[in-house]
Amino acid sequence: MTAVVVRSMSSYRTQIAGVAVTELARQFGTPTFVYDAAMIRRRIADLAAFDVVRYAEKACSNLAVLDLIRRCGAVVDTVSAGEIRRALAAGYSPAGNPPPIVYTADIFDAESLALCVEQDIHVNCGSPDMIEQFGRLAPGREITLRINPGFGHGHSRKTNTGGKQAKHGIWHRQIAECLQRAEQFRLRVTGLHMHIGSGTDLEHLSQVCKAMEETAAEVGPAIASISAGGGLPTVYRPSDAAIDLDAYASLWNAARRRLEEQFAHPVRLEVEPGRYLTAESGFLVAEIRAVKRQDNNTFYLLDAGFNNLARPILYGAYHPMSIVPSNGDAARPEQDVIVGGPLCESGDIFTQEAGGVVVARRLPEAKVGELMVIECAGAYGFVMGSNYNSRPLAAEVLIENGGCHLIRRRQTFEDLIRGETIP
Ligand code: LLP
Repeated sequence: MTAVVVRSMSSYRTQIAGVAVTELARQFGTPTFVYDAAMIRRRIADLAAFDVVRYAEKACSNLAVLDLIRRCGAVVDTVSAGEIRRALAAGYSPAGNPPPIVYTADIFDAESLALCVEQDIHVNCGSPDMIEQFGRLAPGREITLRINPGFGHGHSRKTNTGGKQAKHGIWHRQIAECLQRAEQFRLRVTGLHMHIGSGTDLEHLSQVCKAMEETAAEVGPAIASISAGGGLPTVYRPSDAAIDLDAYASLWNAARRRLEEQFAHPVRLEVEPGRYLTAESGFLVAEIRAVKRQDNNTFYLLDAGFNNLARPILYGAYHPMSIVPSNGDAARPEQDVIVGGPLCESGDIFTQEAGGVVVARRLPEAKVGELMVIECAGAYGFVMGSNYNSRPLAAEVLIENGGCHLIRRRQTFEDLIRGETIP
């Protein structure tokens, strides 16, 4: 049976941020992630209606990307000791107002707890246990609480972070108990945060405002900041709707103003996007290494797989794809193609839907040795890569003001076996 065909959003691409893709591949090899700095800048600027843009660095945490984001005036949200250290290495100060680095998690491991205590990193607690563990070591500090409002929504069931089946955040009915726990250690709860899921939509995001207002009223005038969380969607498929940012920001600004009136002091409004800032900036450049037919199905097999971009196998995520025509010919016949990678695993297919259903994509004819670009790959792309099948992590390149900078060299075999010993 021929697989269901999904129409492609883009078919040909010759340049990324004004640089020829063939030149990028020649200089840096494949597979390589290429980021367009101008796109990240634009996306940060889009969010100017919020007081603070706090980048969820888990989406793409290369030091050069963090440095760029810092230069654009955004601060960061981190989720591990490693991410805190990355932010510090990229030039963020540990403490400040607003805190340049926030640690938002549901647990502390020994290293993250020690780092937050020693470096005075602001902690956003996602569990009552975190309050207690932090309070014992750092009594008297300020904290914020990440609240699970009892509902959530994401682009996939796996990215819904609210509701009773989600492990994230402090359950909304446990506020009083958590405030008491904080008081026990003289911790001051000065802010609230709600992130209901990743890749959600305006309808669901708007519901969070009301939940935030109710929870803030419960905590009272000690609240000096509220965070709308992240989750802003990216347009991946032709049918995806772009979020109405003005409407989103107005809703939150109105909620913030009502709280300011109620508390008679300013309340800082933060937003915490990951994907929105970096997804569209990133392109995974790969080479077609085999074009084969299995009965009436045509496959393009690339030198990039789910070891480089796991979103399709994990969520059935759709990424636009384009062919880089080696002969400059951008009017080729199209065909239905299944695009896969090099891994020894049947699920190593970029054109799949949730549940692992393989689908074909309408793409121009192409031959071995030509390049393909998998687009909108800047968020949760490289960072979710692995060394499966002993393949090295890809290189990363940042294009800024026409200059191409290698911001991570491709791993070598020596990198792969570092730390291993034969007893
Ligand atoms: N804030 C918190 C507390 C989060 O947990 C996350 C994402 C964000 C902000 C940023 O969400 P965004 O704006 O990027 O949607 N690997 C999945 C996404 C997992 C997101 C985890 N947390 C994917 O590829 O879609």
